Amino acid sequence: MTGTSNENSIGPAMKRMTIGIAALVVLTALLFFAAPDNFYPWAKAIHVIAVISWMAGMLYLPRLLVYHVDAEKGSVQSETFKVMERRLLRAIINPAMIVTWVFGLWLAWKGFGFQGGWLHAKILAVLLLSGLHGYLAGAVRKFAEDKNEKPARHWRMVNEIPTLLMIVIVILVIVKPF
Ligand code: HEM
Repeated sequence: MTGTSNENSIGPAMKRMTIGIAALVVLTALLFFAAPDNFYPWAKAIHVIAVISWMAGMLYLPRLLVYHVDAEKGSVQSETFKVMERRLLRAIINPAMIVTWVFGLWLAWKGFGFQGGWLHAKILAVLLLSGLHGYLAGAVRKFAEDKNEKPARHWRMVNEIPTLLMIVIVILVIVKPF
């Protein structure tokens, strides 16, 4: 894959993401007006679908960075990793995070009036996850400029953080221990 085709390949990914978000907005509006009394479980379903997509990306991206460290700078393999990382971030992780937040906040307001220790702790954990998201977005930019200086071990350790946060978040929202 050449550098030029790598640049051009972002276009279709962004187009798909825009179409996906537009379809979601239309679907949400339809569900809201067709079944306003039953919208809460639909919103929860969309929230969980977005959560799964966000987590899939957050678990896969640092793994890609681990492999990327070992690819020689300027090699075909390294350029391919750049495209994979950028597409994963822009077409999946970013939109999935936005949808997770929008529906999560709506559920928190509608279902719980933003009350509950478990909910506050969950929001704190999701803020940490979002911070990690920002850190990974910065890492993708650094790798794209061949400026990463961190070893594979660092990215392997970073890879564990979303797993731990996910376990905490799921226990908080399902068990609601406090
Ligand atoms: C700030 C962002 C978020 C907020 C405000 C939020 C809030 C909520 C609320 C209020 C519910 C409904 C709970 C119920 O009806 O019992 C819910 C459901 C859920 N959330 Fe989130 N959430 C957020 C992000 C996340 C993330 C990042 C994950 C996973 C890593 C997650 C996993 C889930 C799951 C699995 C459910 C379904 C729980 C059930 O049906 O019992 N949420 N969320």
